[in-house]
Amino acid sequence: MRRIILILVFLSGFLTFGQDYAKGKQLFNTHCAACHKMDKKLVGPALNTIVARQGEEWTKEWIYNNNALRDSGDAYAIQIWEEYNKAAMPGYQFLKDEELNDIVEYLAQWQTKKDEAAAAASAPAAPVAGGGTVVVAQSEPSSWLYLLLAVALIMSLVGLYALHKGLQAIVKITTRGQSTNLYLMKKLNMDQDNVEQEFDEMIEGEVQKRTDRKIKHFKKSVNKRLKGL
Ligand code: HEC
Repeated sequence: MRRIILILVFLSGFLTFGQDYAKGKQLFNTHCAACHKMDKKLVGPALNTIVARQGEEWTKEWIYNNNALRDSGDAYAIQIWEEYNKAAMPGYQFLKDEELNDIVEYLAQWQTKKDEAAAAASAPAAPVAGGGTVVVAQSEPSSWLYLLLAVALIMSLVGLYALHKGLQAIVKITTRGQSTNLYLMKKLNMDQDNVEQEFDEMIEGEVQKRTDRKIKHFKKSVNKRLKGL
């Protein structure tokens, strides 16, 4: 039971993780995309490195109210503002704290997610509660692929082995059949010879007997006649 709860907690954590990113992306497209692209300068700077450079807290404060951040004397906030000719980026005090976090999450994860998506371009995507999509098994597709390939290899090897065995069996049966036939033919042949020989002998014997009898008979009758003379 405890294990199941642990798994559920882990899963919900995982899902919310994906959800933050998806929500942040949505919020970004609604509120920021008019002036910002992630990897290119637009009205404002590209945002793919800002969290790495300035940290989550700073980024959140900037989005919430960049004016206040400058007023507090933040040197970088003033510098970037001057770099962009003091163009005013609006404040987002109307966004909830959670929504600000989601946007920061999106900014922070964008490069990683993009790389993962490119790496798993062919991996199936599953819908996630909240409308976004996450790539399933983000870092696993290669190992899954290897597993699949290994299974396929094993299966084809087994298939080849079975084919080999089957062919061997067929060869064995046909050779045995042939040798059996040869053996039978030889034996029959031998028998045939024997029978013929026996037959010849039998006939010869019979003829001999009959001639012997006839000769005896003849001798007898000759003797009789001689006696009568
Ligand atoms: C009307 C255009 C506009 C909109 C909309 C806008 N920004 Fe900006 N943003 C700018 C400008 C221009 C700058 C450059 C600094 C300045 O001039 O204040 C800037 C700077 C930034 C910076 C600092 C970048 C750096 O490299 O220092 C961040 C982070 C930022 N914007 C995030 C956002 C986010 C997130 C949103 C949406 C919630 C947003 N911006 C909406 C125009 C805009």
